[in-house]
Amino acid sequence: PARAVAAMADQAPDSLDALNAIIKRSEPLVPGATQAVLGEGPLGASIAFVGEQPGDQEDHQGRPFVGPAGQLLSRAMEEAGLVRADAYLTNAVKHFKFEERGKRRIHQKPTASEVSHYRWWLDRELDFVAPKLVVALGATAVLALTGKQIPITRARGPADFEKPYAGFITVHPSYLLRLPDEAKAQAYADFVADLRRVHELGL
Ligand code: URA
Repeated sequence: PARAVAAMADQAPDSLDALNAIIKRSEPLVPGATQAVLGEGPLGASIAFVGEQPGDQEDHQGRPFVGPAGQLLSRAMEEAGLVRADAYLTNAVKHFKFEERGKRRIHQKPTASEVSHYRWWLDRELDFVAPKLVVALGATAVLALTGKQIPITRARGPADFEKPYAGFITVHPSYLLRLPDEAKAQAYADFVADLRRVHELGL
């Protein structure tokens, strides 16, 4: 990884477009993904959201957070008074990793070393976007932003990522989709409450 980072640093992208061109050209660490899914949203957005990795639909469409988890995130953002188009949305890992089961492509969690491979890009990306607040959605985003494995339940809320921007940790929307029905409503309400705090912190 040190050599890979040095090689990437050599390319010294001087803009988000230049960085995105490098990401677009890169091969997935694990073969299979259709394309790299880049971050989306305005440069200078006051809030940036970092997810885990693109899912099946993101991989096909080439846009972050357009599948079921993304739709849930959009709905919760709206309820919290956040405008999705004003935020910057990206992922810790830029390629979909999956296991084929019949016709379905089942998401596989990226390993710590895969997350670390993509960290240099994420750091540069957030430097260019320069948000006021970065929201880590779930443990993979926390690992990507801090280099540490931290349980979400303990760290949930405002966080210090030792970066120029403020940090906030909450659950990943796909976690809400996987919960048993009787737990969903409360967990969703808690997620919206977190996003209301994010909205206030990002003002
Ligand atoms: N989950 C993520 O973490 N990111 C996406 O873009 C979609 C689903």
